[in-house]
Amino acid sequence: MLGSEQPILSVDNVSHDYGRQRGCAGVSFDLYPGEVMGVVGESGSGKTTLLNVLAGHLTPSTGSVRYRGRSGGEVDIHRMGEPERRLLMRTDWAFVHQNPRDGLRMNVSAGANVGERLMAIGRRHYGNIRGQAVEWLERVEVEHGRIDDLPVTFSGGMQQRLQIARNLVTGPRLVFMDEPTGGLDVSVQARLLDLIRGLVTDLGLSAVIVTHDLAVVRLLAHRLMVMKDGYVVENGLTDQVLDDPQHPYSQLLVSSILQT
Ligand SMILES: Nc1ncnc2c1ncn2[C@@H]1O[C@H](COP(=O)(O)OP(=O)(O)O)[C@@H](O)[C@H]1O
Ligand SMILES: [Mg+2]
Repeated sequence: MLGSEQPILSVDNVSHDYGRQRGCAGVSFDLYPGEVMGVVGESGSGKTTLLNVLAGHLTPSTGSVRYRGRSGGEVDIHRMGEPERRLLMRTDWAFVHQNPRDGLRMNVSAGANVGERLMAIGRRHYGNIRGQAVEWLERVEVEHGRIDDLPVTFSGGMQQRLQIARNLVTGPRLVFMDEPTGGLDVSVQARLLDLIRGLVTDLGLSAVIVTHDLAVVRLLAHRLMVMKDGYVVENGLTDQVLDDPQHPYSQLLVSSILQT
């Protein structure tokens, strides 16, 4: 997979502080096309902060995040103009929030949630937009008879699948996901995981997936970073880190999960 390809995302010494409170510190890694990076760690370890810096939602206190666009050129996502960054957010990147309410518009229909993303990139043909919305609802296993219903009438799992459809309909290259299966029933989580894995593989997406659930990274992530108190304490191939963790904190994390 890696070969001679160049990274789609280059993260160099990224930190973010909230005043005197450390969010994340000194994080560096490269993400290659088609690669899924998992980020694990206990609550408060800095996972969401890091993801928000990577996605351009937060400004880093130190360091840089460079994105290699479709044409092959690199841009520093925190130094580019706001209009250019917004364009990338609509076209090349997707962000799946932990809470579907943060990633959906709850007061417009499921179909409009998907369709308005297409309109935001300039699509105007109503029939085509609705057709693509139907297609994507089917793809994420939301009955297309629900297309005119509001997301508030959906279960948590359906809302999360709708959020994924809304994000992927525009054909992004890079997807950020924050605890995509958090807060869902175990049986619902398993199906959602299968769905995400299928989409990531079929669409050849590069992704950074944050979770505190090691089963999620085992299934989805090629590589894994373990965070503690804002720092990355271990970074390696997922199977290696989970089967033979080197850092005492990773060992604790793996063994505590296995015991529960
Ligand atoms: N908006 C904020 N203001 C102040 N501190 C914050 C804010 N968001 C997160 N933090 C703090 O930053 C640290 C990392 O939090 P977060 O990135 O949310 O961790 P995680 O996603 O791993 O649970 C924690 O100590 C948290 O309390
Ligand atoms: Mg978080």
